Amino acid sequence: MVAEKTLVLELTLTVRDMTTDDLPGLAWSGSPLHIENMAGQLKRARVGVVDYLVVCIPSGASVAKGGIDYETKPGAGSLTQFAVRAEFQSLGIGTFLIGATEDRIRARGLCSAELDVEENNPRARALYERLGYVAFGRQLESWDQQRPDGTIEHYETMCTLMRKDL
Ligand SMILES: CC(C)(COP(=O)(O)OP(=O)(O)OC[C@H]1O[C@@H](n2cnc3c(N)ncnc32)[C@H](O)[C@@H]1OP(=O)(O)O)[C@@H](O)C(=O)NCCC(=O)NCCS
Repeated sequence: MVAEKTLVLELTLTVRDMTTDDLPGLAWSGSPLHIENMAGQLKRARVGVVDYLVVCIPSGASVAKGGIDYETKPGAGSLTQFAVRAEFQSLGIGTFLIGATEDRIRARGLCSAELDVEENNPRARALYERLGYVAFGRQLESWDQQRPDGTIEHYETMCTLMRKDL
């Protein structure tokens, strides 16, 4: 039997503004409907009401992404649509991305970040609590989502509202 070998890599990750050129490489993050929604968010980014960030490995391939909406809650940046590519989760990339989004919110002169986390996602909630987010309410939310067969369903879910003073 051939012995297992290991390679230890030091990897430089870059966080930057997402562009429309990134969209085809973001298929890992959701359905075609989700990609369409991100394209809409990029249009809003062009008029300054959204920042949409992407984390890339040196080849330019994306491993994480997340948006900040400045219209949802006046005076705050609202974190939205955060995802880390499955194979890259639990390595600290989500923490890195959230730190970068908080820097963007501060750079606008705002002093709080808000987010909604589904009550069926305790792992994400634990991460946000570890990063200093505090729950302040609950809200039923809903959106359209696309099944693998292409059909659209309306999805409803209870969310915890969380806030952090920056
Ligand atoms: C939630 C999500 C965005 C977090 O991103 P992530 O890169 O996995 O987060 P982090 O690695 O920074 O931190 C989370 C975990 O890694 C651990 N961790 C943090 N920094 C670490 C590091 N430097 N080295 C090793 N582990 C680390 C944390 O303790 C935590 O542990 P857990 O795996 O038991 O939960 C990601 O898991 C994801 O995309 N999930 C699916 C979609 C989703 O739920 N989105 C959020 C909607 S609100």
